Amino acid sequence: MSQDSAAERFATGNITGEDMDAERRVTYPTEAFFSRSYLEDENKHLWPKVWQMVERESDLPNPGDWLTYNVADESVIVLRKGDGSLKAFHNVCPHRGRQLVSVPDMLPGKVHDVRGSDRRSFTCGFHGWSFDTDGANTFILDPQDWHHELTPEMTCLSEVRVDTWGGYIYINMDPDCVPLKEWMGRAGEILDHFELAKMRYKWRQWAIYDCNWKVAIEAFLEPYHVAGTHTQLLRYGDYYAYSKQFGLHSVSGYDTREADYRMSESSGTTRSGKAGLDPRVSTYELIRENYETVNYSASTETLVKAASRLKDELPETATPQEVIAHWMKSAKADDAARGVTWPEIPSEIMAEAGLAWGLFPNQNILHGVTFALCYRVRPYGDDPDKCIFESYALERFPDGEEPETEWVYAEPTGENWGAVLAQDFANMEFVHKGMKSSGFRGPLPNPHQEQKVINLHRNLASFIGRGAPRLLED
Ligand code: FES
Ligand SMILES: [Fe+2]
Repeated sequence: MSQDSAAERFATGNITGEDMDAERRVTYPTEAFFSRSYLEDENKHLWPKVWQMVERESDLPNPGDWLTYNVADESVIVLRKGDGSLKAFHNVCPHRGRQLVSVPDMLPGKVHDVRGSDRRSFTCGFHGWSFDTDGANTFILDPQDWHHELTPEMTCLSEVRVDTWGGYIYINMDPDCVPLKEWMGRAGEILDHFELAKMRYKWRQWAIYDCNWKVAIEAFLEPYHVAGTHTQLLRYGDYYAYSKQFGLHSVSGYDTREADYRMSESSGTTRSGKAGLDPRVSTYELIRENYETVNYSASTETLVKAASRLKDELPETATPQEVIAHWMKSAKADDAARGVTWPEIPSEIMAEAGLAWGLFPNQNILHGVTFALCYRVRPYGDDPDKCIFESYALERFPDGEEPETEWVYAEPTGENWGAVLAQDFANMEFVHKGMKSSGFRGPLPNPHQEQKVINLHRNLASFIGRGAPRLLED
């Protein structure tokens, strides 16, 4: 179902994209965060209907490689076939419903997912029915007992739509869904310029938090919180941000009031430091501090090192534009020398691409030319007060130098995640608790800086049928 038809079917009183573009003041109900019946509706109307990211393609490099993806009540098996294509099935045996592959609940420190290699068939552990990698049934014990009247359609595995974008595997359980390319829309076209498919994991970590999945993803949808949460970052950078809806998805970027500092790079992380400081120094300090305190992500070693030389390589009179241009040129040359090629990104795309994307419903990508810092959040079981949080860094590495990584369970401490992410984590549980207060009159999201949060609720409402943001009357 397209987002438009979903919207038509369900949402009454929902705000429109135009309302958001006009930055009109809105609020939205908080039921979406706490109510068990809302969670049940997500399980029915959201997760089985949306394209959602499963894993990086690089995790299934060879024929026979497979893994499971679980969300809410659903479990899906994704498999690389002999011809290199991907196939996905609901993880359920059509006989009496045993999971085909046993997937225990995600457990801290224990289970993230179930995966393996060299898979040529599936045999159910209950009564032994078997299936080939196309999902066709290949064995039933005593078929004569059904008078030979079971058809292949009755006994095959239920297929799930699967596709790839940006080096990610996506699935959609709705057989009538729009193609993934259409789902990604303009967001996908813009991000394609960053060649995410050529990046590989640098690290990947997960944790279970005491908050609804939407509280956790929202903490990474807007930089409006930087001044209040990451106070130490204000020393070298300004964090005023814009945000903008793109239908299902949305973007945020740094905004600058200083004309001198406005350039195609200035909406993302490769921007000049705070106005008024020596841009050769502040640009370095800004990127160094971000890199080191965001768990060595949201930039690269190459970019940080090239920035450290700015003071020696440029005169005191260098303008912010000259500083950024020189920085990009020398980092690009440094990377080229070690076998990392930068994609050519037109400056109008760079400007439009901003800082970070919220891809509906639960995927965030903060992108750079050679790196990305990403998040995904899922509900944890049937508990609206808990979620599964994952974060990972991608980077473009020289061929053959990609690190081997796997999902690591990491308690939300500064030691495990870096000081900045630990500050974000310290808010989540208390946002979730705070919103339950009978004294809370409802959220007042910033129409300019927190539009991604508003857009999440607008789109959720179009799938769930309630919880729509509404205009605050004058
Ligand atoms: S439930 Fe799978 S063979 Fe019976
Ligand atoms: Fe933050």
